[in-house]
Amino acid sequence: MDIETVLHMVGGAGETSYASNSNLQKIAISNARPVVEDSILDLYCSSYPESLNIADLGCSSGPNTLSVIKEIIDATHEKCLQLSRPMPELRVFLNDLPGNDFNTIFRSLIVFYDTLKEEKGLPSGTCFVAGVPGSFYGRLFPSNFLDFIHSSYSIHWLSQVPQGLQGEMGQSLNKGNLYLAESSPPAVYKAYLEQFQRDFSLFLKLRSEEMTSGGHMVLTVIGRNSEEPYSKGCCHNWELLSQALKEMASKGVVQEAKLDSFNLPCYAPSVKELKAVITMEGSFFLDQLQITETNWDTNDNDDNKDYFFDKKASGQHVAKYIRALTESMLVTHFGEEIIEELFERFAEKVGEHLSKEKPKCANITFSMTKKV
Ligand SMILES: C[S@@+](CC[C@H](N)C(=O)[O-])C[C@H]1O[C@@H](n2cnc3c(N)ncnc32)[C@H](O)[C@@H]1O
Repeated sequence: MDIETVLHMVGGAGETSYASNSNLQKIAISNARPVVEDSILDLYCSSYPESLNIADLGCSSGPNTLSVIKEIIDATHEKCLQLSRPMPELRVFLNDLPGNDFNTIFRSLIVFYDTLKEEKGLPSGTCFVAGVPGSFYGRLFPSNFLDFIHSSYSIHWLSQVPQGLQGEMGQSLNKGNLYLAESSPPAVYKAYLEQFQRDFSLFLKLRSEEMTSGGHMVLTVIGRNSEEPYSKGCCHNWELLSQALKEMASKGVVQEAKLDSFNLPCYAPSVKELKAVITMEGSFFLDQLQITETNWDTNDNDDNKDYFFDKKASGQHVAKYIRALTESMLVTHFGEEIIEELFERFAEKVGEHLSKEKPKCANITFSMTKKV
């Protein structure tokens, strides 16, 4: 699978779009807010620059995209007011793969600029937003250019499906699974981990070339909250999706060989695995790290006092956001005709699972400073 051309979230603002199904990521952004604010203010207050070049990598399209930029502007603006300093000029670069729905973002910019004017009295010319299509596993920006980088829920996407998922005879080592499953042999974990180590190390090296000395970066990834290779919170949803595909294979709707040759290009690292790459790559100091947890069913949260569990509704809610993430890859591999049935079966399985357990996704947020 050529990730650069295939991977994109479902665009637009329709029922199955990422924009309408990104509450899980919204919660992760909200949980990371204190770390983002600390980092941008630490950076700003270190030299009170007249301008800041900021990038959001893997920005996607939808309400989350500009919400992070707004957080950064709010924090900087408040600090400037406190210190009676002029607001720095903010040059914001939104990056994603070329298949991303950049048009929807661009269309929302007029309202965004108007909000800055009305809410904060910030005139046009305070903030300039541009789109940068391309993979963050390649160079995206000139050398020594970026002061601040943010990325949420993106860098757990790998540059490719790991090699080494086949045995010597070409047989699938991860038969019947889409990702690391409880039944996966250790070679599958090793293949995923090594791909993540190569990719994250390359990501850090490239960003260090693009960043100014002392530049700050805040990243949030789906991770594991233990050092065990398998974590139910981040892996079991993919096992349920595999089970739905297996059922369809047993009915002849999906070819079994196709199922065996499909593996997801993503990896949920542990804290130890993340720290090891940061130390080994060597370009950044790790400043802060926090882990937060979110229920699979994001409607089930402390702020939602009216929540009551409904098996069907919960299953469908989770299925919708998993579909918004994976549809482009599944359609390319299996064909469009299987999608509706697949996600109906998946929703049922998720609902059933949630009626017995309350799994949680772990989000790891960490801030770093580029070494001088
Ligand atoms: C789940 S979305 C997260 C979007 C947004 N940051 C949020 O929190 O809602 C992940 C995004 O990362 C993008 N992505 C994945 N791999 C990428 C890569 N190599 N380069 C750039 N973007 C990538 C995907 O296209 C997708 O839009």
